[in-house]
Amino acid sequence: MALKSILFSLVLTAVAALPAFPQEGHGFTPAEIQRGGIAYSSFCVNCHGPDGDQISGVNLGSNQFRRAQSDAELIRIIQKGIPGTPMPPGAYTDEQAAVLVAYLRSMATSPRSTRKGPPGDPSRGKALVEAKGQCLNCHRIGHQGTVTGPDLTSIGITRRLAEIEIALLDPSIDIRPENRPVRAVAKDGTKIAGTLLNQDTYTIQILDSNATLRSLYKTNLREYEFLKVSPMPNFRDRLSEQEISDVVSYLVSLKGLR
Ligand code: HEC
Ligand code: HEC
Repeated sequence: MALKSILFSLVLTAVAALPAFPQEGHGFTPAEIQRGGIAYSSFCVNCHGPDGDQISGVNLGSNQFRRAQSDAELIRIIQKGIPGTPMPPGAYTDEQAAVLVAYLRSMATSPRSTRKGPPGDPSRGKALVEAKGQCLNCHRIGHQGTVTGPDLTSIGITRRLAEIEIALLDPSIDIRPENRPVRAVAKDGTKIAGTLLNQDTYTIQILDSNATLRSLYKTNLREYEFLKVSPMPNFRDRLSEQEISDVVSYLVSLKGLR
């Protein structure tokens, strides 16, 4: 749980560290939209779903809103909620709400899927994940696997189908800030690899491959760097089109521990 709250504060810091209020309808950078997407998957996805269409009559990914036209009206809904409905108010600043709006607007123009593969079979996908794909060497699903890479137990809730496909076909394109792989070498030569959790002027916090939180003084490190290339293999050549569809359909079905 401590880990969860660290991640939560990271998300808020990432959202808070924004420049001036963007202009209505335009002026959002890809980085702002990405921050909006991270906030969306933390604060909205459980009710609205990864594609924004989980609540009947509401489709946040369509750029058509029943109760709002302008960005300002959307920001107001996000901050104040919709009284008398389950849509809750949230203590978001104008900037935080604006990047959420930027993300909602971007959903309408980004495709739900990036490829036209054959339909997938989730039970074949499960077998591929556990055997041929060796995914559990790096990922955790339920009570199985390890945590070198992100936990996939709820990936079907937090990511859109298109994002899961990109993760498999081009892992280095879209590394989320909360999954940033980092590698450090201590002055005595010890190597530490894992995921960056946080850093400040003097220290860096890494979740290492044994799921241990390591806080390291930068002065004790010979070097440290963020990896631009994902440690995750590219499965474009390792799995057939059919197998990719099967794995994707299995991942989409992962909606947390039951
Ligand atoms: C507890 C569940 C819940 C959470 C969390 C939630 N929503 Fe909602 N939201 C709803 C419901 C239910 C409605 C539909 C309300 C109605 O019109 O009856 C709604 C409506 C909306 C609408 C209006 C849609 C329209 O067509 O006008 C927007 C915009 C919206 N939500 C955005 C968000 C954003 C962004 C977040 C995250 C910051 C979020 N919601 C979090 C339940 C939730
Ligand atoms: C060698 C370790 C390794 C293996 C094997 C591996 N992954 Fe990954 N995976 C990672 C790491 C590290 C990340 C985080 C960096 C990134 O996004 O590329 C990641 C990211 C992902 C993501 C994106 C997660 C998110 O939060 O958006 C998905 C989905 C995923 N992997 C699925 C799989 C599947 C399915 C397999 C097997 C077919 C697999 N991975 C095999 C290491 C691995």
